[in-house]
Amino acid sequence: MSPAAETTAVLLSAAPDRSEAAARAEQRFVESFGYAPDGVWSAPGRVNIIGEHVDYQDGLCLPMAISHRCFAAAARTPTNRLRLRSAQDELVLDIDARELTPGAVTGWPAYVAGVLWALDPFISGAATRGMDIMIDGQVPLGAGLSSSAALECAAAEAIEALLSLGTTRLERVRAAITAETDFAGASTGGLDQSASVLSHEGHALFLDCRDLSTRPVPWDLASQQLALLITDTRAEHSHVDGEYAARRADSERAAAQLGVPTLRDADVDQLETLLGRLGDEVVRRRARHVLTEIRRVEQFDALLAAGTVREQVGELGALLNASHDSLREDYEVTVPQLDVAVDAARAAGAHGARMTGGGFGGSTIALVEADQAQAVAEAIAAAFGQHGFAAPEFFLALPSEGAGQDR
Ligand code: GLA
Repeated sequence: MSPAAETTAVLLSAAPDRSEAAARAEQRFVESFGYAPDGVWSAPGRVNIIGEHVDYQDGLCLPMAISHRCFAAAARTPTNRLRLRSAQDELVLDIDARELTPGAVTGWPAYVAGVLWALDPFISGAATRGMDIMIDGQVPLGAGLSSSAALECAAAEAIEALLSLGTTRLERVRAAITAETDFAGASTGGLDQSASVLSHEGHALFLDCRDLSTRPVPWDLASQQLALLITDTRAEHSHVDGEYAARRADSERAAAQLGVPTLRDADVDQLETLLGRLGDEVVRRRARHVLTEIRRVEQFDALLAAGTVREQVGELGALLNASHDSLREDYEVTVPQLDVAVDAARAAGAHGARMTGGGFGGSTIALVEADQAQAVAEAIAAAFGQHGFAAPEFFLALPSEGAGQDR
């Protein structure tokens, strides 16, 4: 096969146009429920540029919202029934909204029902809670791009508006986190929901997970002839939840042994001394990842404060590379597909590349020259072919606006 024939299948996929997708969600609501919704709300997926596996240790992260979104067309009804449908799934939920408890709802509807449950303190006792919601999720599933956070956060926007709750954006972030951890039972650290709600177009989001405070950071790559290439490796892993919980437990063990509430509270200037106090070799490596990763986010942020991405691209790329290497060697959350995608991107001239999200499958990002994005994607696809991996999918990460109303 000629090289050209090998690579013609590689295309950078674009997210659906936002206003067209919102109109489609509205149309689907009408077709399914037989009347017009009160409105359409949406929330984006995310990539994390740097700051991985540190959110549950009160660390620092730098995510951005991507252009793929989850849409919720919704209407309030004068009942207490929560009726949920989706464009992607036959599964339909119809439940008394006053009887929501953890475990009562499973599958993707738990991420919507859980938000209504988590917003309970804001809902007046006299109010009816009935609503009809049509979900149209456009964030690739299982790609590590936070389709579940997009679902929760779109639901939170819709519920806020339908019930006129008067919650702040931060209160909705917290409700979405509570929905995921306490209702759906997936223990995560808050990075995804913060990025989905609080991001701004053209910017990355500096996120301090200690109090979820945020600051937009200019990240307009297109005007600097740069691009962030997402590779969805489509690697499947069956032990994600258990492995995630195990890493989290290791980092908590390290904090406890160092006598600090979280690793964020440890003095990273004393790195070697701190690590020397950790007897267990695995716990020591886990702590080294978290401590050095938080420092890398500080360095990344300082570089962006001192110059443009273009001016700092070499050092920014080096930090991305160091982050991946730490996640591979010390935190051990990569799989062969993630490492091959990163190695191939670097070999093809990326300024830096790393896995993004929780790991054990999912996606990588590569900071590349805009006119090289296609060539880097082709190099990754060719490497996947050589390793016998399923064909990956490619997107450009365009820094997008957080959750909001569409129609
Ligand atoms: C998953 C979790 C996040 C975060 C990342 C790793 O995406 O949902 O809370 O812990 O992994 O950075």
